[in-house]
Amino acid sequence: MASIRAFSGVQPTGRLHLGNLLGALRQWVAHQHTRENVFCVVDLHALTIPEKVDPAQLRDASRRVAATYLAAGIDPAVSRVFIQSHIREHAELAWVLTCVTPLGWLERMTQFKSKSEGRETVGHGLLAYPVLQAADILLYDTHVVPVGEDQKQHIELTRDLAIRFNHLFGDTFVVPELTLPPAGARVMGLDDPTAKMSKSIAVDRPNHAVFLDDAPKKAAKKIMRAVTDSGCDYNPSTASAGVVNLMGILGACTGEAIDDIAARFEGQGYGYLKKEVADAVVAELEPIQARLAEYLDDPAALDAVLTPSTEAVRAIAQDTMARVRAAVGIG
Ligand code: TRP
Repeated sequence: MASIRAFSGVQPTGRLHLGNLLGALRQWVAHQHTRENVFCVVDLHALTIPEKVDPAQLRDASRRVAATYLAAGIDPAVSRVFIQSHIREHAELAWVLTCVTPLGWLERMTQFKSKSEGRETVGHGLLAYPVLQAADILLYDTHVVPVGEDQKQHIELTRDLAIRFNHLFGDTFVVPELTLPPAGARVMGLDDPTAKMSKSIAVDRPNHAVFLDDAPKKAAKKIMRAVTDSGCDYNPSTASAGVVNLMGILGACTGEAIDDIAARFEGQGYGYLKKEVADAVVAELEPIQARLAEYLDDPAALDAVLTPSTEAVRAIAQDTMARVRAAVGIG
């Protein structure tokens, strides 16, 4: 068994999109045979903006994200997939970590600043969001956290918290490392290629993202409508952000190098590029959608994966939490 353990997670808020697939799930799948993997659906994090929680749907949304992990190629023979709230230790460790977290560390998180901007009330949970994330990671003696660039600050905070706790209470936690996806795995919004493709933006702007469960025709249409420019420049260092984004998506789907894509389309209108991107994305989505439908039609098949996975990770979480309780003198 590989000795490096990876942990990552996605919130069950909104539908997963092409950015989640190429930037996260794909990377998890690519490395799953060389390390131990724990992939979590972070439903407790979904509560941090309570105004957006739909209690009737949250449980289903969590199962759907778990099913999407599997449909995207996460192999339960080598990777664990579970739902965060099913392991009570996440909340318990989050509290203990909260007590060693200086307020200033949380107040300077850029994600907190942007998520709290313009809100009438900002919940304590939103401020504490990165502490819960740190608990997720530290609970499993995680070595590497494969996430997008936007999570860098949260992983640094996790490291700082592990170091601070170890210093105050004795060596307890593994200090994890961040692993970023390869350049080109960052997918930008189709309607605004200056912003990362995002679930929350896509809620109000349907042409922002291709969802993993979009019908092929719809997916293709969104790509044909993607923002480019009025010129004809494929040079990766001078082309507009929209064109670079489309070439990046094509390369991520087919494995072709960006320079080769650029050379191939030189002198042709962007419609040709878009058509190829649309075909490549649809080819990528079709098998995922077929597998997702199987899991959604058969809840018992999903449970057959989630139940043993959850029990396996529970053992690790309980072990770590026992160490933490001993270290701080509780329990
Ligand atoms: N904050 C992460 C995101 O928005 C989700 C997340 C929660 C996470 N806990 C985690 C990612 C632990 C990696 C590890 O993408």
